[in-house]
Amino acid sequence: MKNKTVYIASDHAGFKLKSWLLKIFPKIADLGTKSDESVDYPDFAHKLTKEVLKNKKNMGILICGTGVGMSIVANRKKGIRAGLANNSKIARLIRKHNDANVLVLPGRFINTNEAKKSVQAFLYTKFESGRHKKRINKI
Ligand code: RB5
Repeated sequence: MKNKTVYIASDHAGFKLKSWLLKIFPKIADLGTKSDESVDYPDFAHKLTKEVLKNKKNMGILICGTGVGMSIVANRKKGIRAGLANNSKIARLIRKHNDANVLVLPGRFINTNEAKKSVQAFLYTKFESGRHKKRINKI
């Protein structure tokens, strides 16, 4: 099986934050958008979730203005558990409790430092399993 890949994608409202995060996390694979020209967030949520679902270890980060549009689209896909986080405490909990494989950030409602801490928490926190596994099995 291929090694784990972490993907990132955004619409125009998340482009600036995505570009900033990619400088700090250069190993994350960028799936666009490539500028702040207006685009449709579902196109990028579809693209990223398709890649994440290719390997159980893969993870993804999606950014739009509020994070809501990306969350709605991503969570329609079987096997995707996308969590919207506007701070690193939530980003940690979506891993510990929800085994989230996609972090969604609200590009217009989070500062860069909190976004960076959220990505770190998402990437390096393990799922707690136990009672949380039982709940995930009920989804
Ligand atoms: C784009 O203006 C905005 O609607 C989008 O980024 C997102 O917030 C949708 O949920």
